[in-house]
Amino acid sequence: MLLYFGLFLLTALVLFVAVMYVLIFVREKKRVRREFDPEYEKKRAEHYPPPFPNGWFSLCSSDSVKKGQVIEVDAFGEKFAVFRGEDGKVGVMDVYCPHLNANLAGAKVQGNSLVCPFHGWEFNREGKCDHIPYCDKMPQNAAARSWTFKETWGLVLVWYHAENEPPSWETDGEIPELDTYKFHTKTEDILRIHLQDFAENGADFAHFGFVHNLLTIPIANRFIDVRHTVNIDFYEGERRHTASFTDQADLVWKKSREEIPHAGGNAVVTFYGPGFLVFRFTTKIGKMLLVKTFTPLGPLKVRMNDYIYAPKGTFPLSIKYLMNEAGAQFHDDINIWERKNFAIRPMLVKGDGPIMKMRTWYSQFYSDKNNAIKGLTKPAMTAENN
Ligand code: FES
Ligand SMILES: [Fe+2]
Repeated sequence: MLLYFGLFLLTALVLFVAVMYVLIFVREKKRVRREFDPEYEKKRAEHYPPPFPNGWFSLCSSDSVKKGQVIEVDAFGEKFAVFRGEDGKVGVMDVYCPHLNANLAGAKVQGNSLVCPFHGWEFNREGKCDHIPYCDKMPQNAAARSWTFKETWGLVLVWYHAENEPPSWETDGEIPELDTYKFHTKTEDILRIHLQDFAENGADFAHFGFVHNLLTIPIANRFIDVRHTVNIDFYEGERRHTASFTDQADLVWKKSREEIPHAGGNAVVTFYGPGFLVFRFTTKIGKMLLVKTFTPLGPLKVRMNDYIYAPKGTFPLSIKYLMNEAGAQFHDDINIWERKNFAIRPMLVKGDGPIMKMRTWYSQFYSDKNNAIKGLTKPAMTAENN
C-alpha cells in the first residue's frame, strides 16, 4: 500500500515538474532572425519617417557604468562617452575630444572629471574643459559637445532634439513602483525596425486577433485561444507626451469561445514619448512591471532593452512565466515589423483601430529638421468609425 502511495506521489511530482517546465521554459514560437541586406534596408528606410524623433532616450542602465568607469554608447548615429565620477554622479558628452578627436571612452576618470588619453585635457561632467596640463591660457569655449542628460529609473537618459531645443517634458515621479519593487533581470536586442511601427502596434486593434490569438504554450494552444480586448487613450496638455494602452487578455476555449474564468491577465502600457514604455501586468499569478526602452541607433536600427521588476515576495517562477509569455507575444510582432514597410497611406477599414490618431499623437515628436513625411496622418481610405 505504502509502495503504491509512494509511486503515486512520485508520478504526481514528475508530472508537476514536466507541466511547469513546459509552461515556463518551452515555447513553440521562436523568433526567426533574418539576414539583412544593407542596400535594401537603405531603400526600405526611405519610406519611413525620419529615424530620430525628439524625446528622452536611454543610453544605458545605471549599473553598466560604475564609479570611476567610462563607457562608449551609440545612439542617434552619434557616439557618447558616459562616465561616473567619484561622487557617484554620471557625466555624458560626445565621445570625441574637441582638441584632436581622440576617443574619450579611453579616458581616465579623475575625481569627477574625464582626462583625455591623448594630451590630458580635463573635462567636467557637462563636457567643459577646465584644465590643460601644458597650457596656462585656456581657450574660450573649450568643451566637448554636451547633451542634456539625467539619471533616473535606473537608467542614464539623454534628451534628443533635432533643433537642440530643451526638454519639453520630464520623467519625475512617473514610475512610483520602482521605489518598492524588486529588480529581477534585463535583456537587450537590436531590432531592424522604426520606433513608430512599435507605437502604431498599440493602435492597430485588428492585429491582436491574428498575431496574438495563439497561446504560446504547446499542446494547450490546441484547445485554448487568447482573446484580447484593447483600448488606447491619448493624453493632452501637459501630459500630451503620454498615451495609455490597455489589453485585457482572456483565455477562451477554442471550440465554444467560452471564457476560462480567472485565467486571463491585464496589461496597462504607458508610452512616455517615443523612447519608453512601461508595461504593468496584473494576473492571478502575480504582478510584473516591464520598463521597455527604445533607443534609435540609425535608420531602421533600434536598441531595445527590457528591465523587469516585480513586487517583493513574488514567486520567481511566476515572473519567469509572465516574461516568457510577454516575450513570445512581442517576438511575433518583431518578426512582422522587421519585414514590413511603412504604409504612408494605409487602406483602413472599420475595426482597424485608431492608427491615424496614433500618427497624429506621434507627430508631436517630429519637428522641422526631422520633419515627418508630409500627409502622414491622412490615410488612403478611412472607415467612418475609425
Ligand atoms: S585629443 Fe584629447 S587632449 Fe588632445
Ligand atoms: Fe502586437
